[in-house]
Amino acid sequence: TGVPGTDKERTFIAIKPDGVQRGLIAAIIARFENKGFKLVALKMLWPTKEKAESHYADLATKPFFKGLVAYFSSGPIVAMVWEGKDAIKTGRVLLGATNPAAAVPGTIRGDLAISVGRNICHGSDGPESAVHEIANWFAPEEVSDYPRSLDEWIV
Ligand code: PPS
Repeated sequence: TGVPGTDKERTFIAIKPDGVQRGLIAAIIARFENKGFKLVALKMLWPTKEKAESHYADLATKPFFKGLVAYFSSGPIVAMVWEGKDAIKTGRVLLGATNPAAAVPGTIRGDLAISVGRNICHGSDGPESAVHEIANWFAPEEVSDYPRSLDEWIV
């Protein structure tokens, strides 16, 4: 379970502090739920600077790193793991382009955000980052492997 490339692929999705502040939690969760992905972990937490840094570790040399970490740790986030076929790639399609100005209407950022420094949500960009990010925010026992009738529906 949780293996990339299977129909149980998992991705880490976060509603960032500005998404929480703007009251967009339910709207963002609904996009993933309505699409058909399965929620297997969820919690609200206020990231420490250290946890935000380890989350974005691969961006440590970028000029915007300090600001990105400050933004991500500026308030509570909603941390989630969503599961399903192509969850990583399709999850990013649902989020829309990283820069909301370029995000197509119909996507979360395309409909709900304007600037890259306040892009309301995060999604893993590949199988390795998904594994790293899920482990950064969740203990294994916080991720639930449970059946839905949908999983065993008509083929
Ligand atoms: S890069 O340079 O291509 O690796 O960056 P990119 O993949 O576009 O974005 C990686 C994350 O950094 C955030 N980002 C920024 N934050 C603040 N200011 C600026 N200028 C900026 N540029 C990129 C971007 O939102 C990505 O974070 P997530 O959480 O994945 O959206």
